[in-house]
Amino acid sequence: MTTLFNLAGKVALITGATSGIGTQQAYALSAAGAAVVLLGRREDRLHKVCEDLHQLGREASYVQADLINESELDRVVQQCLSFHYKVDILCNTAGVNLRQHADDVSVEGWDQTLALNLKIPFFLAQKLVPNMRERGWGKIINVASLQSERAFANGIAYGASKGGVSQLTRAMAEAWSVDGINCNAIAPGFFPTELTQAVFDQEELSGKLAEQTAIGRNGELSDLDGVCVFLASHASDYVTGQVIYIDGGFTAK
Ligand SMILES: NC(=O)c1ccc[n+]([C@@H]2O[C@H](COP(=O)([O-])OP(=O)(O)OC[C@H]3O[C@@H](n4cnc5c(N)ncnc54)[C@H](OP(=O)(O)O)[C@@H]3O)[C@@H](O)[C@H]2O)c1
Repeated sequence: MTTLFNLAGKVALITGATSGIGTQQAYALSAAGAAVVLLGRREDRLHKVCEDLHQLGREASYVQADLINESELDRVVQQCLSFHYKVDILCNTAGVNLRQHADDVSVEGWDQTLALNLKIPFFLAQKLVPNMRERGWGKIINVASLQSERAFANGIAYGASKGGVSQLTRAMAEAWSVDGINCNAIAPGFFPTELTQAVFDQEELSGKLAEQTAIGRNGELSDLDGVCVFLASHASDYVTGQVIYIDGGFTAK
């Protein structure tokens, strides 16, 4: 039982680790014993989170990269593997929401959103799967959204990408679970991060969203810790292809 959620000896790569949910995942997974490799564009943030984790006595390193540039992926994977020669857990957390009205969605905005939110999670995983396969065990955690199921204002490209993430998660699970590599997605409700600042800046709107949950409040980043450790650990070895809503009951109402 004690080993169920224990991540000692595991290595987790977390994209989007410079802020919000990705940073939270880095703290949660490292608290459970994993060595973490952080990925993002802002090197000062990567350095700061890494330093802070070291202060806490945890193992952390980072790779600076712009994932929109898919030609970077080989270098990213090589650099990640140079730290511990393996990655057991991949958190595909980097994401973007440009919030363009349907009338104003640009081809560039669409391409950027679909690339970062949907395409890169697959191709990064595809490049890491051979390494996970060597040990017959791996965990891939994607990030879906309420917009995987629901339409929200100004969510054309974002909603399309997150709807795609739900199906991508099932398809990745279908392809790789037989090799011991499980793939699931978390679907957060509303959590205060840089990505949702526009929502939380509007008190009336964020209050309305909180009222739409069953619990009666929006999320706090620590609400995501349990599910993250669960999906990264042996505790979820028979869970794959699932999209798990951590939304305070938003979608239940
Ligand atoms: N917050 C919520 O309520 C909520 C709800 C549902 C789903 N989500 C999803 O959760 C994930 C994390 O979002 P968040 O809320 O934590 O937002 P956030 O704080 O804005 O984090 C986004 C992360 O993505 C990284 N990123 C953006 N563009 C990148 C690029 N081109 N290359 C590499 N990294 C890039 C950012 O790092 P750099 O800027 O340093 O590159 C940052 O670490 C996203 O997939 C989002 O869709 C969030």
